[in-house]
Amino acid sequence: MKLLVTGGAGFIGSNFVLYMLEQYPEYKIVNVDSLTYAGNLENLKSVESNPNHTFIKADITDAKMMDELVSQGVDVIVNFAAESHVDRSILEPDVFVKTNVLGTQVLLDAARKYEITKFVQVSTDEVYGTLGETGFFTETTPLEPNSPYSSSKAGGDLLVRAYNETFGLPVNITRCSNNYGPYQFPEKLIPLMISKALADESLPIYGDGLNVRDWLYVEDHCSAIDLVIHKGKNGEVYNVGGHNERTNIQIVETILEQLGKPGSLMTFVKDRPGHDRRYGIDPTKIMSELGWKPKHNFETGIKETIAWYLQNKEWWTRIQSGAYQEYYAKQYGERL
Ligand code: NAD
Ligand code: DAU
Repeated sequence: MKLLVTGGAGFIGSNFVLYMLEQYPEYKIVNVDSLTYAGNLENLKSVESNPNHTFIKADITDAKMMDELVSQGVDVIVNFAAESHVDRSILEPDVFVKTNVLGTQVLLDAARKYEITKFVQVSTDEVYGTLGETGFFTETTPLEPNSPYSSSKAGGDLLVRAYNETFGLPVNITRCSNNYGPYQFPEKLIPLMISKALADESLPIYGDGLNVRDWLYVEDHCSAIDLVIHKGKNGEVYNVGGHNERTNIQIVETILEQLGKPGSLMTFVKDRPGHDRRYGIDPTKIMSELGWKPKHNFETGIKETIAWYLQNKEWWTRIQSGAYQEYYAKQYGERL
C-alpha cells in the first residue's frame, strides 16, 4: 500500500509515520509537509534512511504539486496538514482558512482525479463546539465550532463530506480529542507548562482553569487512524477518545508535582476569547464497529510524556526559535 501523509513532520503526523512504518514495514509513505513553524524534520530522524519513507517539502494548497504527487500512484491520503493552534487562529485566521479549507479541497480534487481508494481527514472534536457539565460528543452532534481554527476544520470536514456525496470519493473523517505525547510543539498546554515549570517561569492558566479537555495518548490516536484506513466504512465519521477528562488545573498540578515544582508558579491570566468549556468524546462507534481500544492509561501516559520532555530537552529548546519567540511575545504580551 502507498500512503500519502500530509503534515507528517508535525506532532501527530510524525508519530503516525513512525507508527505505520513500524506496523507495516512493507508500506510506502510519501510524507508531504510545508514545514511551517510546527513542522520539524528532527521528529523523523529515525526513519531518515528508510527507503519506504520519502519526505517532500510542499504546501497542500499547491494544486499543481499535489496533482503531480497523487498522479504517481497513491492508494490512501491521510490529511493531517493543518494550522492547529487555537490561540494563533484568533490572531491570524487567514492562514487557517487557506490551509485547513482550501488545502483540503486541493487534496480532494487530486484524490478524485486519480481515483484513490480512500481519503482520511484527520479532524477534531472541536468542530462540535462546547459541552456543558454532562453529555458527550457523538458523531451526530451538530457542528458548532467556536474558534477560527475549529470553524476552518469544520469547513474542511464539510468539503470531505460533499466530495463523498457528490463525486462518490471514498472518505472517512476522524474526530479526536486532545492528544499528548512526544514531539508536541511547546505552545500546547502540556509541553508549554513543562518547559515553563523547568525554567521556574509562571504558568499562564486561562480564566479559572476549570475548562475540561479529554486527553488521549498520541499512539492511541495513530492506532485509531490505522483501523479507519483498513476497516472504516465508506463515508463514515469516527470519534476518537479515551474518556480521560481533566481540568486544566489538574493537568498543571500533575506536571508540577512530577517536576517537584511549587503550585505558586500557576498564574491565572485573561481567558482565551470564545474558550470552549468542556470537551468529552463518546468513542462507542469506533470501539464497537472497528474494535479500537486505547492502550495507554492516562496516569502512566502523562508520567511517560513528562519524562520524555525531560530526556529530550534539546529537542524543544532548539525549536523555541526566533520566530516562535516573536509569536509568543505577541500572544502572551497582553495576557501577563
Ligand atoms: P501540528 O501543528 O503539530 O502539525 C501540523 C503539520 O502540518 C506541521 O508539520 C506543519 O508544517 C504542516 N502544515 C501546516 N500547513 C501546511 C500546508 N499548507 N501544507 C503542508 N503542510 C502544512 O498539528 P498536530 O497537533 O500534529 O495536528 C495534526 C492534525 O490533527 C491537524 O489536522 C489537527 O487539526 C488534528 N488534531 C489535532 C489534535 C491535537 O490534540 N493536537 C487533536 C485532534 C485532531
Ligand atoms: O480537542 C482537540 C484539539 O486540542 C485540537 O484540535 C487542537 O489542534 C489542539 O491544539 C487542542 O486544542 P486546545 O485548545 O484544547 O489545546 P491547547 O493546548 O491550546 O489548550 C488546552 C487547554 O489549556 C485549553 O482549555 C486552553 C488552556 N491553556 C492553553 C495554553 C496554551 C491555558 O490555560 N494556558 C495556556 O498557556
